[in-house]
Amino acid sequence: MIGESTKKIAIRGVLLAGFALFWPSLGVAEETVCIQCHGAQEGYLGEPVALWRDSIHAENGNSCHGCHGGDPTDFEMAMSPERGFVGVPDEEDIPAFCGRCHVGVKDDYLQSAHGQALGEGGPTCVTCHGNHAVKKASSDLINPQDCSRCHEYGRAEEIKAAVVGTDQLISGLNQDLDKLHRLGIRTKELQGKVFAQRNEFHRLFHSVDVDQIKAKTAGFEKELGTVRERIDEISGEFGQRKLWGGIAVALLLALGVLFTLMRKTYQEEE
Ligand code: HEC
Ligand code: HEC
Ligand code: HEC
Ligand code: HEC
Ligand code: HEC
Repeated sequence: MIGESTKKIAIRGVLLAGFALFWPSLGVAEETVCIQCHGAQEGYLGEPVALWRDSIHAENGNSCHGCHGGDPTDFEMAMSPERGFVGVPDEEDIPAFCGRCHVGVKDDYLQSAHGQALGEGGPTCVTCHGNHAVKKASSDLINPQDCSRCHEYGRAEEIKAAVVGTDQLISGLNQDLDKLHRLGIRTKELQGKVFAQRNEFHRLFHSVDVDQIKAKTAGFEKELGTVRERIDEISGEFGQRKLWGGIAVALLLALGVLFTLMRKTYQEEE
């Protein structure tokens, strides 16, 4: 009897220890003091919480303190500059604020016509992506409403055509590679190549340099063209294999029929 209850206590102890170990990663890591306190506030202090929850940042674990700094575990000291709180950035500091994590994008942006016009009517990261409701980026962000607020849409439209064209090329390749993959063909290297090209291509946008984007788009189309050729080759080989397979089956069937006929003839002769 005593042995039994000691065992129960021991098990409870292990469970508790396990819980304590995993507790921070379950709830507390997401429900920081920032979210708890701001979530209970009204108006401009509370709104960021709901907007952020639907964002790509929430999905990937970049919470309030990732951008604003501060101590997410301490109610009293959360917004203390000593704990790294930087508060709300001035407009001109936004590229550096976001660029801590998006270094490549920040560099491309700062060199672009947009970055050069920072503080003088040029857009910052949040003009195009928003601050709390940041979503996965796509060519949908390039549209007449958003891109003709400050200048004509013409040059933006040329960039959009290049981005949409290349995106279509890439998704077509990915679909065909998926099909081959489902047939049991090794496509990992080709898929890796398309993925790398995709990432490099998407880096181009922030330069907003129409000539450069057009020139490089041609280069990407050529590289992706080699993937297309390889896919066609593999499909061709596969189709031929299927054809020979079909011929072999037909031959076997014909042999079978012949054999049965011959047997029948012998049987009749007996
Ligand atoms: C106990 C409640 C509480 C906690 C915890 C808290 N905040 Fe705040 N926060 C406030 C209040 C109230 C204000 C508005 C008054 C002020 O600026 O001090 C504010 C203001 C802010 C602002 C705007 C500052 C400005 O200059 O307008 C930001 C950004 C912010 N908080 C981020 C955070 C982050 C990030 C954390 C966690 C590291 C955090 N807060 C934790 C209550 C809190
Ligand atoms: C991706 C970075 C990022 C994240 C994550 C983020 N913020 Fe912000 N926040 C900003 C920026 C940038 C501003 C400045 C607003 C502007 O200029 O558009 C801002 C402004 C604010 C303000 C001032 C009021 C306002 O809307 O301008 C508060 C309060 C605030 N944030 C709280 C929070 C809280 C609470 C969280 C977590 C739920 C959070 N922020 C997450 C980037 C971020
Ligand atoms: C603490 C690091 C951090 C900061 C600061 C930060 N981000 Fe992010 N951001 C991430 C992570 C992590 C992801 C998700 C992974 C990825 O796509 O790179 C992401 C994703 C994004 C995406 C979607 C990318 C895609 O693949 O479509 C955009 C757009 C973006 N962030 C914009 C911003 C903007 C604008 C700011 C400033 C207001 C900002 N980020 C600040 C870490 C950060
Ligand atoms: C003029 C509007 C605009 C500005 C300013 C801008 N972006 Fe973007 N951003 C876009 C568009 C459009 C895309 C999608 C491009 C594409 O699909 O090729 C994008 C894509 C991204 C991506 C995803 C890149 C990828 O590899 O898929 C990130 C991250 C990002 N932006 C962050 C930022 C940050 C950080 C800043 C500020 C330094 C910024 N953006 C400034 C419009 C903008
Ligand atoms: C907040 C204002 C603002 C917004 C919004 C804006 N731009 Fe711009 N853009 C500028 C300024 C300022 C310049 C530099 C002066 C000029 O060339 O007109 C510029 C220049 C450009 C250029 C010329 C670049 C060069 O090197 O010649 C292109 C292309 C461009 N923007 C595309 C876009 C696209 C695409 C969007 C939407 C995703 C956009 N812009 C949204 C302000 C803006």
